Formats: sequence, C-alpha cells, structure tokens
Amino acid sequence: MKLGVNIDHIATVRQARRTFEPDPVRVAVLAELGGADSIVIHLREDRRHIQDRDLRLLKEIVSTKLNLEMGLSDEIIQIALQVKPYQVTLVPERREELTTEGGLNLIKERKRIEEAIKLFKKNNIMVSLFIDPDREQLQIAKIIGAQMVELHTGIYANAKDPEIQRIALHKLAESAVTARNTRLSVAAGHGLTYLNVQPITKIIEIEELNIGHSIIARAVFVGIEDAVSEMKEIISRR
Ligand code: PXP
Repeated sequence: MKLGVNIDHIATVRQARRTFEPDPVRVAVLAELGGADSIVIHLREDRRHIQDRDLRLLKEIVSTKLNLEMGLSDEIIQIALQVKPYQVTLVPERREELTTEGGLNLIKERKRIEEAIKLFKKNNIMVSLFIDPDREQLQIAKIIGAQMVELHTGIYANAKDPEIQRIALHKLAESAVTARNTRLSVAAGHGLTYLNVQPITKIIEIEELNIGHSIIARAVFVGIEDAVSEMKEIISRR
C-alpha cells in the first residue's frame, strides 16, 4: 500500500510566524527519504498554509509524485494548469473549515467538476476526486472521467462508538470494491493515525493512503523521516 504524505501542517507552523521555517520543501525531501510514495499539499484560496512558492519549488524537487489538493476556484485551476503537478485531487473547500470536512457533492456540482476534469486531462494531469464512500458518488465519478477516487475516511476515523466505526469501515470496504470493479484507482484518507490505520490497510482494493496531521505530529518527536517510515511500516504490514 502506498503512502502519500500531506505536509500542509509544516507550512501551518511556518505561517504562524510568517517566517521562512520550517520549510515544506526541505521536509518533502526528508519525507521521501522516509519512504513517502507521494507528497500531498493543498493550496487553499486563503493561503493559510501552503503558498504559491511552495507549490512551484515542490514541483521542481519532488522526485516521487506531487499530488495537489485543490478546490474548484478559477484562480487555483489556472495555477494548477501552469505548474502541472503529477496529480490533482479535487476537494470541497470552505473558508471557515478547519480542514476538509466532507467529500465532493458530485450530484450538485457535476457539470463544473466534469469541465475541470476535461481540462486537467487535456493537460496530462491525473485527476482524483475526494468523495464520501457512496455508490452514487462513485458512479458519477466514473461517468465524468475521474481516474481515481479518494475515499473520505473521516467518519471511520472520528467515530467514538465502535458500532459506528464498524459500519463506516464496512462502507469503505464496499466502496473500494465498487470503485475497483469500475476500474477507478482507489485512495483513502482523512483523520488516519498510527493507531486507527491498520483495519483500513486490510482493504486490499485501496492502493494508497494520504495522511498528514498524525505524521507531522509524530515528526515533532522523532523527526519527519522516522515518522514517515514508521507509518509506511504499519501500512505495508497489511
Ligand atoms: N486527504 C484529503 C483529501 C485531505 O483534504 C486531507 C487533509 O488535508 C488528508 C487526506 C489528510 O488528512 P489528515 O491530515 O487528517 O491525515
């Protein structure tokens, strides 16, 4: 199972002081040395963490794959088309949220997302859609041309009640099978930690996990390289 490491929160610490450190560009190199299969960043409209400069430099230096998470604003779409990361992951974005709170609504926003997918594919940028584990969303994702879906693991990860967690896990497993049957590549992420990730790794249809907060939090104690390699070790065990 592959590991995408989201380094937004390195930039969050830097932006707390509007200074030059810690630099997400340097962290990306260390994350790759620790075993990251891709580097994930979210260039938000409000630029609360990752900056345009980070995206440009990361595009130059990332030697694995650069996965740019983004909302569907015209400005960010234009930037993505100029920089051309390996992959974009389209996510819903609201200014007042602490982090991405749910999957895209492909029923409501189908037309806009379909147009964006066409544009990115024409520019040889792979497109993944961040969606809730839901059959109808998966069907639309396939019809409108996405190559990959990232299943939102938030309900599973945040569940306090074991029964709710069990149901959420089952939904993720079912959705991963549905996605693979329609030849969509499958990633998953959000809220995954060293403690809750293992059951997700048993879902063999999931090819990649994108994890940020927990790895960066652990990196404060052990350094980014070890934090990444510890997570990589857990998810490779299956
Ligand atoms: N995947 C997507 C689409 C996200 O928006 C985020 C959060 O930026 C993550 C994965 C990583 O979530 P976490 O930081 O909770 O590991």
